[in-house]
Amino acid sequence: MSGTDIRQEIRRLLRERNAVLLAHNYMRDEIQEIADITGDSLQLSQEAARTGAAVIVFCGVHFMAESAAILSPDKTVLLPRPDAGCPMADMVDVAGLRELKARHPGVPVVTYVNSSAAVKAESDICCTSANAVSVVKSLPDTKLIFTPDRNLGRWIARFVPDKEFIFWDGYCPTHERLTAERVRQMKAEHPDALFICHPECAPEISALADHVCSTSGMYLYCAKSQARKFIIGTEAGILYKLRQENPDKEFILASPALICPNMKLTSLEDLLLCLQTMQPVVTVPEGVRLRAQAALDRMLAVPR
Ligand code: 13P
Ligand code: SF4
Repeated sequence: MSGTDIRQEIRRLLRERNAVLLAHNYMRDEIQEIADITGDSLQLSQEAARTGAAVIVFCGVHFMAESAAILSPDKTVLLPRPDAGCPMADMVDVAGLRELKARHPGVPVVTYVNSSAAVKAESDICCTSANAVSVVKSLPDTKLIFTPDRNLGRWIARFVPDKEFIFWDGYCPTHERLTAERVRQMKAEHPDALFICHPECAPEISALADHVCSTSGMYLYCAKSQARKFIIGTEAGILYKLRQENPDKEFILASPALICPNMKLTSLEDLLLCLQTMQPVVTVPEGVRLRAQAALDRMLAVPR
């Protein structure tokens, strides 16, 4: 089948199945192009919670499809590549988190959405990189457990100096590949560019940035900024829409190492097969789902 035929067949099957196609901002260009909605983790979870479609096809990684299954239990959630996981999400497990909670009784757990449903179920509230500071500020407690991303946790902590954090030692291997030396070199090569990075980058990288934000925050910032040139410190998939929406501006990836292998797995062929077979379906056991939903609902109730 030619590329055009595959695209037409995907769109036809999406209509036939009453399905909505959600794609994360890090997906391959051709997946973002065909998606009904692209967005960051927060926007996609909000969309999953409110869509009227019977089927959600999630082009992202496993925890994102799980969040959709948690928030929309009456819908079929499909993840075209079941092997698309998130190494950061795998760094925290239920047993370890329970042990940490037992050592700090009464301390609420804030969990980044990049985590399994089972870990969310052990948490008081979730957050994404777009709403993390608002979520933490919404809590009256002065001591918090933050899991699993130590880099996002440390970045948030700067905005709430009155709170004490216990950080889980997780991180995103893709963002951690960006080094301060590389950023300094890129800034020296492009002195007229602004450097923007994701809070999943290590603290020494965020310290060098003109702006730190979620993937969707980058679209807003770059569109509004008077600058013409940007060095981008996040996963390469973000460049597709940045370049499309700002044809008069230049975007340079801070390092060729900024590619998440999991986010790059899903192809148009995988998507087509998934719609033809209506597999693989992502489900969450009801007992876990209800507790994870409470943590996600608390997050969604916090104004951004
Ligand atoms: P956001 O899209 O929420 O900024 O998340 C980045 C990410 O790493 C998702 O895996
Ligand atoms: Fe996980 Fe990092 Fe890939 Fe996002 S970019 S899915 S946090 S490994």
